[in-house]
Amino acid sequence: MHEENLKLGVNIDHIAVLREARKINDPDPLMALGVCAQNGADQITIHLREDRRHIHDEDVRRILESSSLPVNLECSINPEIIDIVCTLRPHRATLVPEKREEVTTEGGLDVRGQYEAILNAINKLSENEIEVSLFIDPTNEAVELSCKLGAQWVELHTGTYANVYAMRHSALPHSHHAIETLRLSRKELDSRLNGSYEVIVDAANKARMLGLKVAAGHGLNYQNVKSIVDIDTIEELNIGQSIIARSVFTGLATAVSDMKALCQR
Ligand code: PXP
Repeated sequence: MHEENLKLGVNIDHIAVLREARKINDPDPLMALGVCAQNGADQITIHLREDRRHIHDEDVRRILESSSLPVNLECSINPEIIDIVCTLRPHRATLVPEKREEVTTEGGLDVRGQYEAILNAINKLSENEIEVSLFIDPTNEAVELSCKLGAQWVELHTGTYANVYAMRHSALPHSHHAIETLRLSRKELDSRLNGSYEVIVDAANKARMLGLKVAAGHGLNYQNVKSIVDIDTIEELNIGQSIIARSVFTGLATAVSDMKALCQR
């Protein structure tokens, strides 16, 4: 089945990252809502982390109150957080793994190891009529277990693909990538890139076949997004860092509309 319209969820966490650099009220993530909506975004995505390092409960409340677009709230499966999310009532909750020391969400949920805890979170959210998505690695097992758990959506983690893409194309001067790149031949990088892409294609197709809705995200940018857009069983992308980074130079309106243009099929 071909999804004509690929939806774009804009993750605005990084606006709050900038605000928290000074712990003042500027820039206010709320100011992004209208700009995103007017420039092709289909959804606002935010992450209420346990340590509240960027988005705060009050941000979620204000964003939910003011957004004309559906709000996808990423959160951990910690029961205290799930209770808060049930009170906040976003349109969708995306369950993600969370470690305090990590810079960003590294890897998908451990769906097998945390099956019961994820099930409890899904049940609680569903009782509160909140749609649930599971952020998973692109593997057949994670997709099958997500279906068994009763999630409506899976979001496939594209981080490995994005990292290998950056290594292959040297698109970004990431030093930790550069060091590894030196040791790998172009042929090896091509093969890794192909492998990291094919698992996303397979997982998306499998999820769709099982009746799940399929999103993807993490590390997607203006260079690497095209191949992911071409996977027609994916119906939504959630993209944050690259859009907010570009907005520093172009303004948010252009950064969002440029990405939306790349999402056209
Ligand atoms: N989707 C999920 C579930 C995430 O945790 C993140 C990162 O917060 C993103 C998408 C967006 O990733 P990026 O900021 O690298 O575009």
